[in-house]
Amino acid sequence: MNRLNVAIVLAAGEGTRMKSATPKVLHTIAGKTIINHVLEAIEPLSAEYLRVVVGAHREAVENHVHEISPAASTIFQAERNGTGHAVQIALEGLSATGTVLILAGDTPLITSDTLVDFYAAHLEGQNDVSVLTALLPDPFGYGRILRDESGALAGIVEERDADEDEQLIEEVNTGIYLFDLDALRNAISQITTDNSQGELYLTDVISLIHVSGGSTAAILTTDYTETLGINDRGQLAEAWAIMRDRINEFHMQSGVAIVDPTTTWIDASVTIEADATIYPGTALLGETHISTCAIIGPRSTLTDVRVGAGASVIESNCAGSDIGAGVKVGPYSFLRAGTVLGDNSKAGAFVEIKNSTVGEGSKVPHLSYVGDATIGKGTNIGAATIFVNYDGVTKNRIEIGDQVRIGSDTMLVAPISVGDGAYTAAGSVITEDVPAGSMGVARARQRNILGWVLRKRSGTKSAEVALRAGASESAPQKENGEQA
Ligand code: UD1
Ligand code: CA
Repeated sequence: MNRLNVAIVLAAGEGTRMKSATPKVLHTIAGKTIINHVLEAIEPLSAEYLRVVVGAHREAVENHVHEISPAASTIFQAERNGTGHAVQIALEGLSATGTVLILAGDTPLITSDTLVDFYAAHLEGQNDVSVLTALLPDPFGYGRILRDESGALAGIVEERDADEDEQLIEEVNTGIYLFDLDALRNAISQITTDNSQGELYLTDVISLIHVSGGSTAAILTTDYTETLGINDRGQLAEAWAIMRDRINEFHMQSGVAIVDPTTTWIDASVTIEADATIYPGTALLGETHISTCAIIGPRSTLTDVRVGAGASVIESNCAGSDIGAGVKVGPYSFLRAGTVLGDNSKAGAFVEIKNSTVGEGSKVPHLSYVGDATIGKGTNIGAATIFVNYDGVTKNRIEIGDQVRIGSDTMLVAPISVGDGAYTAAGSVITEDVPAGSMGVARARQRNILGWVLRKRSGTKSAEVALRAGASESAPQKENGEQA
């Protein structure tokens, strides 16, 4: 296929109907902006010149376009005088000949396949203009396709300028065109603002080319959903759903089990290996990768997370984390940026971890917070242990060795280290390093005040059962936790 000469993306519109502080083309679908989807779709045509017409929210749109598509140049349209005006500006100072693709920056569902086929048909027909058309269930608002007696494309009439008969036409202009550049240049200088909106319509170029004897073609798409434009929040949600179904279908075709595709939202950038299973209510976002035989969900959100083979993540929220093979996460884990879980380790129920490494086979099974720590291999962190990493001013690190047993409800006050094979006693507040092989105990010794309930709470149910259990009021006053 010949390389395309020029591509022009129209994105100067205000997007008022979105009712948003964010420019319309910068709203995201499946993790990418609307305009990013469009620019990606046209990439395989490898246009020599790529021009994006910007206007409203100029700076934000320009910066974004330059970031995602460094080869693109942006053209500023100071006043929105219509699509014809936008194209006039885009053609200024451009001497290229050959073919130009023109499309709107707000049609994120268009695919490369469709554009490549469209381009091939245009070249084969040696057309001066080809318009991609669609049959819409509800054509309201779109330009209608007018054909002459021979069936050839004769022109396009906008909804607001169409008479009753024309409004009945179901074939619409998708806003995606291919022109011979010379034919376009010649005709676009002749368009006028003589229409209901007082704008320069790009669509008027078609009848001008037709009347002057140029060859025009309307090429119908088989899938109208690809050409849907985004103008309001409802259409944005509709496009999201279509994109979601498309992405899920792709993964299922690649061998991924998706139990409920309607509640599974996967960003376009996510990669999943065959035989992974995704349960309902799950969102996989950003640069997430799921390895084979992993189980994700139900109701889990993973953003920029790598999940190893055979790992499971259940009812959890994870971001910026690396989850090794065979790891178990959840239910109700919260993994934050910088979490690395070694192979076959575990982050269990109600566990929060950030900026920490948990070594191979180590477990943080219940109700714990682990922050700014390194945990060795084969170590167990007892229930309700808190890594006290923040002294109110700075965050400090905690180092835990291999095969350590941290007792339940330990407070590990950073900076601190617990050596290989060491233990801590349950309920300790550990403020000093614990050397390898030692037991760190930091709590008041228990004392039992014998007979206290019988003396101070006599007549209660507790006193009653204690008596029955053989307790006596006049127990010796030995209070060291030892029975007399
Ligand atoms: C346009 C077509 C219509 C077609 C529809 C498909 C015209 C006159 N009409 O209508 O036939 O069915 O698209 O979606 O072209 N833009 C600029 N500068 C402007 C005006 C618009 O850059 O001065 C951009 C917009 O940001 C948008 C695109 O051009 O991305 C289309 O403009 P819009 O106003 O949405 O045109 P429609 O009324 O949808
Ligand atoms: Ca539009």
